[in-house]
Amino acid sequence: MAGERQWVLMATGRSPTNIAVIKYWGKRDEALILPVNDSISVTLDPDHLSATTTVAASPSFPSDRMWLNGKEIELSGGRFQSCLREIRKRARDVEDEKKGIKIKKEDWEKLHVHIASYNNFPTAAGLASSAAGFACLVFTLGKLMNVNEDYGELSSIARQGSGSACRSIYGGFVKWCMGKNDDGSDSMAVQLVDESHWDDLVIIIAVVSSKQKETSSTSGMRDTVETSPLLQYRAQTVVPSRILKMEEAIKNRDFESFARLTCTDSNQFHAVCLDTSPPIFYMNDTSHRIISLVEKWNHVEGTPQVAYTFDAGPNAVLIARNRKTAALLLQRLLYCFPPQDNDLESYMLGDKSILSDAGVQSIADVEALPAPPEMKTPNQKFKGDVSYFICSRPGAGPKVLTDESHALIDSATGLAK
Ligand code: DP6
Repeated sequence: MAGERQWVLMATGRSPTNIAVIKYWGKRDEALILPVNDSISVTLDPDHLSATTTVAASPSFPSDRMWLNGKEIELSGGRFQSCLREIRKRARDVEDEKKGIKIKKEDWEKLHVHIASYNNFPTAAGLASSAAGFACLVFTLGKLMNVNEDYGELSSIARQGSGSACRSIYGGFVKWCMGKNDDGSDSMAVQLVDESHWDDLVIIIAVVSSKQKETSSTSGMRDTVETSPLLQYRAQTVVPSRILKMEEAIKNRDFESFARLTCTDSNQFHAVCLDTSPPIFYMNDTSHRIISLVEKWNHVEGTPQVAYTFDAGPNAVLIARNRKTAALLLQRLLYCFPPQDNDLESYMLGDKSILSDAGVQSIADVEALPAPPEMKTPNQKFKGDVSYFICSRPGAGPKVLTDESHALIDSATGLAK
């Protein structure tokens, strides 16, 4: 290592979050995070939902430390340690001539790291922040330590942070292959198609207001594995053929099949939660109302316009076949769920231009929206039941941010900015 001089070497990366369209639920190995079935997800545009992480190493750091959204958090969790250990094992020589830094492969074992991570969406909203976070941690540590492993290998390390994180190593549509090996070496993600393959799709997320503390995915799926007979049937009989059909639908951009499979799989995941003892309820009345709204509209149109899917919480992820459909969907959503405080600007995050496509630029426009024709009781409005919407699209995988202004750690002090 470079003499006595105290240097700080840093790397910054950004990773997207992802939403499963065929769900992962249930582990066959808790420690290695090996799933009971394959799953498929769509990666969301990192401009709208992503984690940015800076990792720094210095001989002056006495211990590993981490900050999340500016607040220091404990790094003692086994999952962080697994990711750090696996990346450290694969670290290689690093030389930064400009800064006069030389780190030998074997030095990495002794060097401590500081990690600062930031989500560009509210962590508390229950939007797979751990997926983006662990993918970003592994990807960025890999860059700092000059790791040469391919993306498949990186995904398998991210998997040990949080299962769904392995799918955030790629953009577009991604499959997590459950694998067969006991050591987890073949349980990794593969990219099915990149984000340009099906770029008509528009994704609208309804962040649903909820006061209820939800069961974490980790403990929820543990209870399901221990008690639900339906999970065996799902994992062994239903998912394998559904995965093949979903891959086909994605390849052919067959929205009708894609939507039917996505909705059915989300509903089965929540059925499996209900089949758990004690039962787990992730969706609430608002979630159910959104399902009815979409189901009725799809039924009247004769062919699906929008797919819905729900993870371990009440938020709805709605995938529209194109922008025109997304605009019609947004009109319906705003009719039923007008903004509580009459502030449209903060009610629509992400790609706000969808508002003008829907012809809604002001609260007066929201109030003037006609009742959706398929709605039987048109006066039903539920102000305040949705906190806000986020409009996004399929997006790209992780990338390095070379511009130092993105760094979340101060290169002089080595501490979070
Ligand atoms: C419902 O990946 O959060 O979002 O592996 O225990 O960290 P751990 O669980 P996590 O579970 C995600 C479950 C899900 C479905 C999915 O993303 O496939």
